[in-house]
Amino acid sequence: MTTAAQQKAQQNRSTVFVEVGKLSSVERLPGDQFILRIRAPKCAAAARPGSFVHLTCDPAAPMRRPLSIMRVVDDCIEILYKIVGEGLQRLSEKKPGDTISILGPIGHPFRPSPERPKALLIGGGVGIPPMIFIADSLRQQPDTWTPLAILGSEIPFPFARQRSQLATPWLSNAIIDTMPLLEGWGVPCRLATLSGMDGCFDGYVTDLAEQWLSTLSAQDLAKTQIFSCGPTPMLKAVAALAEKYDLPCQVSLEEFMACAVGGCGGCTVVIKTPEGEAMQRVCVDGPVFDAASVVW
Ligand SMILES: Cc1cc2nc3c(=O)[nH]c(=O)nc-3n(C[C@H](O)[C@H](O)[C@H](O)COP(=O)(O)OP(=O)(O)OC[C@H]3O[C@@H](n4cnc5c(N)ncnc54)[C@H](O)[C@@H]3O)c2cc1C
Ligand code: FES
Repeated sequence: MTTAAQQKAQQNRSTVFVEVGKLSSVERLPGDQFILRIRAPKCAAAARPGSFVHLTCDPAAPMRRPLSIMRVVDDCIEILYKIVGEGLQRLSEKKPGDTISILGPIGHPFRPSPERPKALLIGGGVGIPPMIFIADSLRQQPDTWTPLAILGSEIPFPFARQRSQLATPWLSNAIIDTMPLLEGWGVPCRLATLSGMDGCFDGYVTDLAEQWLSTLSAQDLAKTQIFSCGPTPMLKAVAALAEKYDLPCQVSLEEFMACAVGGCGGCTVVIKTPEGEAMQRVCVDGPVFDAASVVW
């Protein structure tokens, strides 16, 4: 018998393509961070906020590496990464015109609920890219979405910070820096760090998020939902915040991945299901899960 989780994973696998992507631009940022734009039309057409790709960095590093899709521009995907080890180091040596084998888009995306148009997007470090993708998606939908992004980093942010013109009356005027891309889209954003950056909130993303949530009326809270991606301790704190304010919350998890298509079982996490706790694969059952279902 096929379980609901198996059906979900099966549906997901049918959207995954293998294609030869062509690198169209490379942006080098402080802190060993890079933004690559890769022409991959099939992947770009099927990508959704929360999707990731599993890509080959270099023939000398045969294992693919999983990276979130930050956004889609025409028939290109953009990824943002920070060098950790050999694979991403080699990827950073690629030049425009080089090819990269792309497997993707992989994974269950975020599922925004239209009944809760106040979307709080919380991204930390290399968890920022999926928050950019979801902000881009929500701002392109008509009607009433009012996303607020809170991004955190302990190394230089992967963009040149700018002063925001978008009002956040719940916050001191000194906390004014934002991400230019989001500012241009009209999506309010504020930045948090413990590394002492002028114009940024001095603390954790969750402290800043709580500062906003604590100003909301019960009526506004009933219209609020949270989406988040970042290091596991941050996601755990986001899940606790969501529980405190009784808010639905979806988190995108990271695990070590070998195959990224559900075959090796190397990326499992424990998830609470109606049938009890179960091992689920981050690659094909996630990476997005309801925060309340994750056994942290
Ligand atoms: C779904 C998903 C999305 C991700 N999105 C991003 C992103 O947008 N930007 C970004 O900078 N990083 C992202 N990561 C983390 C990124 O995949 C790892 O940092 C990267 O694989 C490290 O490779 P490396 O060759 O530099 O390091 P190495 O140390 O050489 O990696 C060795 C092995 O460990 C695995 N590995 C190492 N660290 C991680 C990790 N944190 N999570 C999973 N596998 C790991 C690698 O896949 C590789 O097989 C994501 C991870 C997952 C699972
Ligand atoms: S990485 Fe192989 S099952 Fe997820």
